[in-house]
Amino acid sequence: MQSDKRAVNSFTLQSVAQAGLHVAIIMDGNGRWAARRGLPRVAGHRAGVAAARCTVEHAPRLGIRCLTLYAFSSDNWRRPPDEVRSIFHLLRAYLRLECNALRQRGARLEVIGRRDRLPPLLRSEIARVELATCGGHELLLRVAVDYSSRDVIARTVLEAVNAVPGNSRTSPESLKGLLTQCLTTECGEVDLLIRTGGEKRLSDFLLWESAYAELVFTDRMWPDFNECDLEAALAEFRRRERRFGSVPATRISASLLSFGGTQ
Ligand code: FPP
Repeated sequence: MQSDKRAVNSFTLQSVAQAGLHVAIIMDGNGRWAARRGLPRVAGHRAGVAAARCTVEHAPRLGIRCLTLYAFSSDNWRRPPDEVRSIFHLLRAYLRLECNALRQRGARLEVIGRRDRLPPLLRSEIARVELATCGGHELLLRVAVDYSSRDVIARTVLEAVNAVPGNSRTSPESLKGLLTQCLTTECGEVDLLIRTGGEKRLSDFLLWESAYAELVFTDRMWPDFNECDLEAALAEFRRRERRFGSVPATRISASLLSFGGTQ
């Protein structure tokens, strides 16, 4: 029975034991958090940065080896320009102030998403911190900025198809393999995706990589999210049985028993 269980969950065990967990977070609720306090939205984003800092700090001891935070979606360009500017300003300040702390904790920063539309000062701060933290091995911190999963998938498909000689004969299977390789990189697929703020949707975030992610939605507004909430989400994740389309080991052994088989 034990070996069945190991076979069924081999992907999980491999992902957790070898590389640690990949946790992705949609940090939602900053605006409502601020509105409830009679504060401007930017105050919610500022408090959101503090929550992000706390999450990054606690992630490694909780077994997280890759943390992907959704800071600014490509659809967020629809927000008022002042708010967009404030978010970019806060992100830049975060990078400037946290660079040393990230290095000391062995965290490596990688920003995913489009860079060509970002303000030049933010772009150069990103490049500086990515370089300064490139030796970090404790945690891969990925921050998604001007990110759209559909956009990334579409561009990757184009690149992949163009790269294959005689691309008209590329099979769906080989394209799927190539895409998984290009999109999951060293983080692997998402193990756990958390969304705060009470909404239950993916909002164009890591769609390919989250095909078998466990989803945890919490009503907690992002600025209130703390290490206890992160621990609770991880506890919920550990209670789930990840089957990746297979049959759970318990059901296999139950059916063997009902047919008089042995374990
Ligand atoms: C969603 O709240 C949050 C954002 C659009 C992004 C802002 C996130 C931060 C500033 C955190 C910074 C992260 C790092 C890595 C430093 P919302 O404004 O959509 O909230 P609402 O749904 O209540 O309006």
